[in-house]
Amino acid sequence: MNSQPIGIFDSGVGGTSIWKEIRKLLPFENTIYLADSKNAPYGDKPADEILALSIKNTEYLLEQGSKIIVVACNTATTNAIAYLRNNYNVPFIGIEPAIKPAALNSTSKAIGVLATKGTLSSALFHSTAKNFSDGIKILEQNGEGLVPLIESGKACGKESEKLLLKYLKPMLVEGIDYLVLGCTHYPYLIPVLQRILPDNVKIIDSGEAVAKQTKAILTSFDLLADKQNVSDQFYTNATVGVLKQFVSDYNVAVNYLDF
Ligand code: DGL
Repeated sequence: MNSQPIGIFDSGVGGTSIWKEIRKLLPFENTIYLADSKNAPYGDKPADEILALSIKNTEYLLEQGSKIIVVACNTATTNAIAYLRNNYNVPFIGIEPAIKPAALNSTSKAIGVLATKGTLSSALFHSTAKNFSDGIKILEQNGEGLVPLIESGKACGKESEKLLLKYLKPMLVEGIDYLVLGCTHYPYLIPVLQRILPDNVKIIDSGEAVAKQTKAILTSFDLLADKQNVSDQFYTNATVGVLKQFVSDYNVAVNYLDF
């Protein structure tokens, strides 16, 4: 048993979609969440910069005593997780676009992946896509502009709807029946996506799978926490009020941190 916190980071508020799944599945765990919103979006940055930011976030979370790190960001996972796993002595959980279930279940044999440029151009994404591309058309789309809208609290406004219409049109023309959300910010677009997508197109978001994997790894390393008074700490290096909106249904502390 181990009551040290689960450390979670993202380029901003998007990883709260993962944190919510972790909170649901692991109710006795303490958590620390780091939103590097000052540096968002990561998706437009070169790989070496994404790696440097991921190292900085990891080191902060380790200084706070994290027993495991959840990289709640596809862009950071696909560009940095191999380095992190090789250089730090705690387990790391990452998130990548869930191409596998979409490709295996697609009947139209066409699937869409909406992700950041940083994720789509990574070697890890290329190798996963290649593994499942046999007989499947994978339509990739960079969701440029979406993360800044979500970071400014405008996930469901007219601007995001306009961008999504533009980004999804070519996928719908090709007859996709699955849309993979390859960025942890994008689950916050689901109300807009549901207005745009026909009923037969299923949305895949891997938040729950990440929480299950976190539980499995904590269990296998005998690191689960016992029943206790749980503490959840949220830190952002940008606007506290924005991060607060994303966790307003929870009784958690949200603070500014200059990191
Ligand atoms: N939440 C990050 C992801 O999953 C957003 C990336 C960004 O900051 O561009 O990829």
